[in-house]
Amino acid sequence: MSHAEDHDDNRRDFLYYAAAGTAAVATGAAVWPLVHQMNPSADVRALSTIRVDVSGLSEGSQLTVKWLGKPVFIRRRTAEEIEAANGVEMSELIDPLARNANLQDGADATDANRALDETGEWLVQMGVCTHLGCVPIANAGDYALDSGQGGWFCPCHGSHYDTAGRIRKGPAPENLPVPPAEFIDDATILLG
Ligand code: FES
Repeated sequence: MSHAEDHDDNRRDFLYYAAAGTAAVATGAAVWPLVHQMNPSADVRALSTIRVDVSGLSEGSQLTVKWLGKPVFIRRRTAEEIEAANGVEMSELIDPLARNANLQDGADATDANRALDETGEWLVQMGVCTHLGCVPIANAGDYALDSGQGGWFCPCHGSHYDTAGRIRKGPAPENLPVPPAEFIDDATILLG
């Protein structure tokens, strides 16, 4: 093969991949087959599922990890935070839905329906404000406890989320979404 032909082949490959990329963006539903066809490396494929070691998290602290390009808050709540979340009447909520990908659509936004485990100690949610997408600040806002723990505040336009990540005040319309997540052993949460 001459150098010129070789060059042409490379160019065709490039055009093919560029076209495939455009189609993936345009159609949405076609993303997976096209990506699969392009045979991405293992680390690219692994991005849709990540394992997070949470053994170092103490009560009342939070870990932020990046999943699918967005921040996810993993919080180990104190008994006080859980109690505060359970003490909220459903009628006080702006958004009555759990927004939990692990549950059926339409589940109520009780604390139990948003927490990851039965004790309610672990709360996993997207760290993306449901107003216009800023990253809320932990332990801040009107729904943080007197101890200074819990709750999130989005400084962009002043949205306040309670200790269960539910929107309570401000322009954000929905609770922070809970992504697909589960414990796969005592110290590891699988996201995605
Ligand atoms: S983006 Fe959070 S309040 Fe507007």
